[in-house]
Amino acid sequence: MPTATYPQQTRFALRDGITCRTGPADAILLDPPREAKLTGLDAGQLHALATLNQGPATVSELSAAAGGDDVAELMGRLADGGWLSVTVRDRGRDLYTLRPFGPPAPRPDAPLPWSATLSKFAVLHRDSEGFVLQHPRAWCDLRIHDPRLLALLDGLGAADVDLPIDVKSQFTDDLHWCGFLVPDADAEDRESTTRGGSLPELWFHRRSALGAHTLTHNHFDPTTEAKRRFPQLPARNASHPGDAIDLHVPDLSAKRAEDPTLTAVLEDRVSTRSFDDAHPITLDQLAELLYRTARSRGTRLSDRGEEFDSRPYPSCGSGYELELYPVVRKVGGLSPGMYHYDSFEHVLRPVVDADSPVVTEVSQPTSSTLPEGAEPQVLLVMAARAGRVMGTSEQAGYAAIREHVGVLMQTIYLAATAMGLGACAQTYPDTAPFATAAGVDEPEACAVGGMIIGSPARR
Ligand SMILES: Cc1cc2nc3c(=O)[nH]c(=O)nc-3n(C[C@H](O)[C@H](O)[C@H](O)COP(=O)(O)O)c2cc1C
Repeated sequence: MPTATYPQQTRFALRDGITCRTGPADAILLDPPREAKLTGLDAGQLHALATLNQGPATVSELSAAAGGDDVAELMGRLADGGWLSVTVRDRGRDLYTLRPFGPPAPRPDAPLPWSATLSKFAVLHRDSEGFVLQHPRAWCDLRIHDPRLLALLDGLGAADVDLPIDVKSQFTDDLHWCGFLVPDADAEDRESTTRGGSLPELWFHRRSALGAHTLTHNHFDPTTEAKRRFPQLPARNASHPGDAIDLHVPDLSAKRAEDPTLTAVLEDRVSTRSFDDAHPITLDQLAELLYRTARSRGTRLSDRGEEFDSRPYPSCGSGYELELYPVVRKVGGLSPGMYHYDSFEHVLRPVVDADSPVVTEVSQPTSSTLPEGAEPQVLLVMAARAGRVMGTSEQAGYAAIREHVGVLMQTIYLAATAMGLGACAQTYPDTAPFATAAGVDEPEACAVGGMIIGSPARR
């Protein structure tokens, strides 16, 4: 980073979280897991580093601390390693700050064309410190202190912004350098379409993975961030009112001996879309499927006082946020309607009657999966108690929920295959009617997936 190109009032600082330890002729910069050793430092450079260690300073303040020596070489080394944040100022006022989280990209060779526009992946939002501009592929965040700069986010087209032209050029050059401004919006569009990824997808991917922005689990997962502010949700969902329907408990010892082999189950598993409605699944079969796949096997307290559940399928951090709501159309021995499966007591509790329009709305999207728009005998709606997971995870919580849906789907597929039942995964539940039917706020229990279950059509 050529620090000399910035206006004289620009302040440089060691980026947040860095510890700088100096020796007789060297220094170590620590930001675990990253660290860098600066060797061959003279007394002036060590004094300049000590000044930076105390807080932001201009180049002339650092040079004064160095006894009048030129600090450009030291600043270049710090900037190239991504250790410096830069606050550009005008007439004593902070304009914007580049906050790197890794080594910067090389400065683009070509000048920024007038046609340059804000990248479609850039996101501007406010946090407790003010405006922050972020990009999932950028090597830094950009803090905007002076709202006049907001008019320049889409390039230099807004030339009537009341700022000196060199400040405006510096800002747009930096936007380009950091990846926020792209020279050709159509090219970016083509690239992102052919290589996959819309704005939410790329953000979701980057936020739920470790990378340049997130090297460690700090502010990532599992941080139990919300735990300090809100009590953790208990492992057990509050019971729905209504009389519990006791369910058959299968003899698992007998199943161990009788079940088809793992290879047979894996090889025979398919998605079933044709069902034998004249001989539908029975309540005992539904009970066995729920018991074998989704019952709670018991809770335990972690060292940190978190309540961990255990079920037949795995769950990140033992969160087990998924609840099953069977929407029953045709089950031998059970009235139609929507039920909640209480995985702790292994009972069903009625939630909504079959004639309620919301029950139809919940199950309707699945009919497009079945021949001639048939109704499923049972649709198991998977609903996430997001608070079980979001409270422990700052960034990866929603990704974990989606992973759990896949894990539970496959567990149900395999158990259904072993039992001779038909199953078909369902991706797109309609979340709003489900929330209405279940009588919950969407964040409290949001529909995230489903499984059609029934007796398969005879071949
Ligand atoms: C996560 C996931 C979501 C799925 N969503 C649907 C769906 O919404 N509708 C559907 O008909 N099939 C759905 N399926 C089933 C797939 O279409 C099916 O697994 C695939 O065609 C392979 O066929 P097979 O399961 O018979 O081996 C889903 C499968 C998975 C794993």
